[in-house]
Formats: sequence, C-alpha cells, structure tokens
Amino acid sequence: MQSLRMKVVELRNVSFRYAGSERNVISNINLQIEEGESVLITGPSGCGKSTIARIIMGLIPHSYPGELSGEAYVLGMNVFENPVSSIATKCGIVFQNPENQLFTFSVEDDVAFGPENLALPRDEIRRRVDESLKLVGIEHLRYSSPNSLSGGEQQKAAIASILSMHPSVMIFDEPTSMLDPSSSVSLVQSIFKLKESLEKTGKKITLIIIEHRISLLLNHVSRIIIVSDGRIVVDSDPITALYEGFKQGIPINIPPVLQIFFRIKDKCGLENPPKDLKELLTNLKTR
Ligand SMILES: Nc1ncnc2c1ncn2[C@@H]1O[C@H](COP(=O)(O)OP(=O)(O)OP(=O)(O)O)[C@@H](O)[C@H]1O
Ligand SMILES: [Mg+2]
Repeated sequence: MQSLRMKVVELRNVSFRYAGSERNVISNINLQIEEGESVLITGPSGCGKSTIARIIMGLIPHSYPGELSGEAYVLGMNVFENPVSSIATKCGIVFQNPENQLFTFSVEDDVAFGPENLALPRDEIRRRVDESLKLVGIEHLRYSSPNSLSGGEQQKAAIASILSMHPSVMIFDEPTSMLDPSSSVSLVQSIFKLKESLEKTGKKITLIIIEHRISLLLNHVSRIIIVSDGRIVVDSDPITALYEGFKQGIPINIPPVLQIFFRIKDKCGLENPPKDLKELLTNLKTR
C-alpha cells in the first residue's frame, strides 16, 4: 500500500560520475524519505554519502559537473531543474567542511544571514539567532569572526546557521567529525531537541544525518541506510540494518555490544538487542 505521508526526498534511479572520473560514484540509487523521518546514512569512506547529499541539494548537477542520470525531487521540486537557491530555503545542509559555509565577519551575521534572506521581521531574526546559538552552545562566540574559530566551533556555527532557517529538511554531513565525544553527544541531542520543539509548533522536520559514528545516532533515528561502493545496500529499521551490514561484512562502526549480540544471538537463543554490555550479560544469565 502506498504511504499517505508526504515524500520529502525522492531519488529515482540516480547515477552520477564526476567530470574527469572514470567510474560512476553513485549507481542506480532509489531512495524515498518521508516527512518527519530521522534517517542515518552511513557507509565506508568514499562510498558516496556526500555525493548523495549534493544530489539531494541540487549541488549536483548545478555546481559539480559530471554525467548524471535519473530523477531527484525534494519536497516535490525537481532538483535538477530548479536553482539550488530555491531548494536551500526548504532544505538546509551542514557540509562536511564547515569553513566553506561561513562567509561573513561574525558568527551572529552568519546565523542571521538565512532568516534575513527570508525577509523575516527583525524581532523574529533576533529570536532565531538567540535560539540557534543557544541550541548548539555557542552564545559566547556570537561576535567572533568565523576565521578565528576551531574546527569544532566552526561546525557548531555552521549548524546554527542552518537551524536559524527552520528548514523542513535538514541534512548533516558528519556533523560531529571535529568534536570531542561529549560535545558530539550534546550536539546530537540539540539537533533532536530542535526537531521536537519545532514539531510541537506543528511543523514536521525531516533529518538526514550522514555519520560514521553509528552509536551516537542509534537511539535517535528511525531508519539506517548503508551505502557501499555507490549503491544503497541496506535500508531498514536500525537494528535490522546493522544486522544486515554485519552479515554482509560491510566495514561500518557497529557498536561493539551489538557485534557480540549478532555473533551469538542464534547460538544463545537471544531475541532482543541489548542496550549495553550489562543488559547482554543479564539476558544471557536469565535465558
Ligand atoms: N568533486 C569531486 N570530483 C571527483 N571525484 C570526487 C569528487 N568528490 C568526491 N569524489 C569521489 O567520489 C567518491 C565518493 O565521494 P564522497 O565524498 O561522496 O564519499 P563519502 O562517502 O562522503 O566519503 P567520506 O566518508 O570520506 O566523507 C570518492 O571516490 C571521491 O574520491
Ligand atoms: Mg563525505
């Protein structure tokens, strides 16, 4: 039966080869993401995750030349036929290299830039800037120059500049790659807190997060997509997806406790995945 929920992202048979490259980096990708979903895209380095994000945003083909086939839609807009600027008002992306995303003289100006372009009232712009800086914990960097920030701080500033747009689709390409473990945890919590608080106002938010550190997202996302060698090889609920990735031997960071569980579950008659080692040991004792 067809789902009644609105499809916010739809890729149909998309393949892409960068200009000058000899092979397709993306081959026959079919992907549908519905309104309100939280999706993790993971896979080995170089498998094509950022390329998929560039396709969803329309940066491919508009900013990256190459050979493209298939169709792509974001919120019903044909990505290949619409300018990136019209997609960017509804779909925000935080790039893997955030320094390319910050271009004004202060963090505050960068965060205000999107809402200003939406021609929002002054008070609303100020409210959104305050809220976004607070959510990622960089109120103290408000007047700093983006050039003077560390990689992790730039990453947070880039995220704040997207949050302030309140886009209905947000793509984060390795949002925690430059952060220490505890900042990574709190940043992920902030992203999902924002989703929840915007949804209380009646707005549905779709999150697409590209990340190697699966354990950070496992309890937050409703679906995991595993990309390998330019193809979607697994697309399922989180535990099923990781089990499939495990069985296929795809080199992804499956949390160690789940690796043990997957290895012994059939032999030991275990059914439910444990949340930690303690629970796994208890399940083994009580089975
Ligand atoms: N602008 C480009 N021109 C040519 N080839 C590119 C370009 N960008 C990426 N590639 C190649 O396309 C393939 C997929 O790259 P992509 O950046 O999408 O991978 P990824 O899964 O995001 O990797 P990572 O986890 O390391 O970020 C790689 O082989 C990469 O070298
Ligand atoms: Mg990448």
